[in-house]
Amino acid sequence: IMPTHLRFRRRSFLGLVFLFSLSTSALYFIYSAPGIVNEYLFMVQATGIQIKQNVRNIGAQVLEQVVRGGYSLNGTDYAYDFNVSESDVPVTTYLPGGFTYLPAQICPERLPSMKGRLEVNMSEIALEEVERFLLNSEPSMSLGGHWKPTDCVPHWKVAILVPFRNRHEHLPILLRHLVPTLQRQRLQFAFYVVEQVGDEPFNRAMLFNVGFREAMKDLDWDCLVFHDVDHLLENDRNYYGCGDMPRHFAVKLNKYSYMLPYNEFFGGVSGLTVEQFKKINGFPNAFWGWGGEDDDLWNRVQYANYTVSRPPGEVGRYMSIPHHHRGEVQFLGRYTLLRRSKERQGLDGLNNLHYSPLVSRRLLYTNISVSLSRKLAPIADYY
Ligand SMILES: *[C@@H]1O[C@H](CO)[C@@H](O)[C@H](O)[C@H]1NC(C)=O
Ligand SMILES: *[C@@H]1O[C@H](CO)[C@@H](O)[C@H](O)[C@H]1NC(C)=O
Ligand SMILES: *[C@@H]1O[C@H](CO)[C@@H](O)[C@H](O)[C@H]1NC(C)=O
Ligand SMILES: *[C@@H]1O[C@H](CO)[C@@H](O)[C@H](O)[C@H]1NC(C)=O
Ligand SMILES: *[C@@H]1O[C@H](CO)[C@@H](O)[C@H](O)[C@H]1NC(C)=O
Repeated sequence: IMPTHLRFRRRSFLGLVFLFSLSTSALYFIYSAPGIVNEYLFMVQATGIQIKQNVRNIGAQVLEQVVRGGYSLNGTDYAYDFNVSESDVPVTTYLPGGFTYLPAQICPERLPSMKGRLEVNMSEIALEEVERFLLNSEPSMSLGGHWKPTDCVPHWKVAILVPFRNRHEHLPILLRHLVPTLQRQRLQFAFYVVEQVGDEPFNRAMLFNVGFREAMKDLDWDCLVFHDVDHLLENDRNYYGCGDMPRHFAVKLNKYSYMLPYNEFFGGVSGLTVEQFKKINGFPNAFWGWGGEDDDLWNRVQYANYTVSRPPGEVGRYMSIPHHHRGEVQFLGRYTLLRRSKERQGLDGLNNLHYSPLVSRRLLYTNISVSLSRKLAPIADYY
């Protein structure tokens, strides 16, 4: 992910950056290129100390846009249409309330139990309390957060992979929110929390690769959902099954004023079938620190000739639990790597991954604890 909110069309990267503040709670940066209707609006929602942090980063980010423009596919936009207004979104039909499933039939994707808008409760809660509350569900969950419906055959077997470090208070909030939603969606699922130990910068992408490998040892999943621990969906019609194309679920985030920050944004929550994930050689392992790995995944998906699909309109809304990156460092080398996405795709990913996990089961998730270092994913030349 790009750390600020920006919305733009790529044309030219020569210009000036103006910085001004419209209010005490937000900073606006306008980047304007000469002679072109081309404005970059960076809006950093920030307060107090965060403002300083963002001001320090902003110069680097404008520069990154320049670099990004240099390697991009000539400014062509991808499939997502920014211009679609909410009222144009097709009305989808959901099954009526009295619908009865048959135990031998595939569960439909548009169930009457999926009502739309959800309440999001971000209050902290103890994991034990969430366990008590969820274990009363019928049919019951089993160790590792495994669940499947019994009144119909689940359409997808979904492994939910959650990269993790130092966010213990977020996990119960996510589980309390997401588990009942997935049950209403009649999916088979389990949770895999992949926790990075050691002193290396956080490597979200490599944690996903590890989680994938370990999850597949547990069950023959057919769909993978890559889920940040602090993202809470606001609409239960955002169906966490997979499809013919890789899926981006977290389209509109409250932290980006519910707009897609840029067309290639693929962060937060995304989903690929096992087949799609293998075809793209998984995530890259070379992104140490936050930022960029989701953009690389986007590139991988394009190079494999997939087109990312997204839920329409309000369905893709998310709230994220506020936090401050907890001292996790940004990966400043990401644009150097992104310029070589294509060449690296076959070299760095599932096929050069080595690790030794410590796996344990909790009631609601499998805990995959893993120490990561650069030598575990050797690659001859990163650049
Ligand atoms: C970008 O556009 C220029 C001029 O239209 C063309 O010569 C070049 O091949 C294009 N590059 C890519 C990567 O499509
Ligand atoms: C966006 O939609 C409006 C109204 O439907 C239309 O007039 C305009 O040309 C569209 N813009 C683009 C860039 O497609
Ligand atoms: C949110 O969660 C807290 C902690 O479990 C609980 O006390 C509170 O009642 C919940 N709020 C709503 C609106 O459900
Ligand atoms: C993607 O499509 C192009 C053009 O049709 C083709 O040359 C290329 O081999 C395809 N790539 C993959 C990975 O299928
Ligand atoms: C996972 O297991 C490790 C090692 O036992 C433990 O230190 C860590 O707290 C656990 N993490 C979670 C999220 O349960």
